[in-house]
Amino acid sequence: QESSRARQFEVLQWAESLFQRTLLNSPEAEPARKYLHGRGIDEETMRKFRLGFHPSGWDWLIKQSQGKYPLQLLEDVCLVAKKDNGGYYDFFGHRIIFPIHNERGQAVSFSGRLLPGDERPSKYKNGSATPVFNKSRLLYALDLARDEIRNQDQAIVVEGYTDCIALHQHGIQNAVVTMGTALTDEQVTVLKRFARRVILCFDGDDAGQDAASRSVERFLAQDVDLRILTPPDKLDPADFLESHGADAFRELSKNAPQAWDFRFQMAKRKYGTGTIDGRERVLTEMLNVLAQVPKLSTSVRESILIADLAHRTSVPEETVRGLLNEVRSSGPKRV
Ligand code: UTP
Ligand code: MN
Ligand code: MN
Ligand code: MN
Ligand code: MN
Repeated sequence: QESSRARQFEVLQWAESLFQRTLLNSPEAEPARKYLHGRGIDEETMRKFRLGFHPSGWDWLIKQSQGKYPLQLLEDVCLVAKKDNGGYYDFFGHRIIFPIHNERGQAVSFSGRLLPGDERPSKYKNGSATPVFNKSRLLYALDLARDEIRNQDQAIVVEGYTDCIALHQHGIQNAVVTMGTALTDEQVTVLKRFARRVILCFDGDDAGQDAASRSVERFLAQDVDLRILTPPDKLDPADFLESHGADAFRELSKNAPQAWDFRFQMAKRKYGTGTIDGRERVLTEMLNVLAQVPKLSTSVRESILIADLAHRTSVPEETVRGLLNEVRSSGPKRV
């Protein structure tokens, strides 16, 4: 039978403290401490994010839990998993632990990172969704960032735990993380409760920029001021901060283009605007983007975007509107 939510929160909190004490005090966590220090994460930050360490072996946690918590409960919150033969093993064995908290600061799950040199698959291993861990709604570090998001009327959304942690340590404390790159509608709805502006700052590599571009298409219609910050040189935010510092990051975020501009620049880079063919393809791609938007929140916003697209491509507004209707009724055009 399912364990109660209260018991699940209890065992998650117990494990979190155990992992944290182990990281801060245990001799076997020395390589993990060294690794985190080497990445510029100091002890205060380790405590703030309640980072931890899960030692190696397949039953370290299982042994610690004996006489305290049943294995079924540990399995329900994804701290242990079943082996093929029916026995259990520690889910996060030999990994640095990033606890994931809900908005109230309660641990709801964990993500475990390999130490460098560890050749096992998955750099990060994530707990599965459980009754207390809703991945599509949760934003990592929202419990810590919420007040600052409200103060600044602006949230920074990154794709990696270490990006968020580095930002906070550098004094940029309105940063949160999506759980698994793409930003979801539910997450945007949550963020809109606290701020009008969302700065999406995914990694500068191709995967990160593709995810950013997909987000633009999904959120063009949302009543939110979405900006896209692209770290230069394919860096991620943590790497950028390490080499350029917080002021340089703030400067980038001040100049981050609006989602629509970002998407337009992307199309221009792809096709060029020096030729008629290039300009036609830019227009077609942007019409496809606009048409994908389920329903623009207000017709005002739609009119603005159509006017803007017409202006940028030097095509009359009525023509753009007509083409958009065409794409809407017969599907995206080949670019
Ligand atoms: P990245 O590969 O960009 O990692 O994945 P990172 O955040 O920069 O981590 P460091 O700097 O190497 O420590 C971004 C995010 O994608 C998820 C994690 O949430 C990670 O923070 N991810 C990545 C996984 O879930 N599993 C993986 O194997 C890799
Ligand atoms: Mn990445
Ligand atoms: Mn990184
Ligand atoms: Mn990264
Ligand atoms: Mn630094």
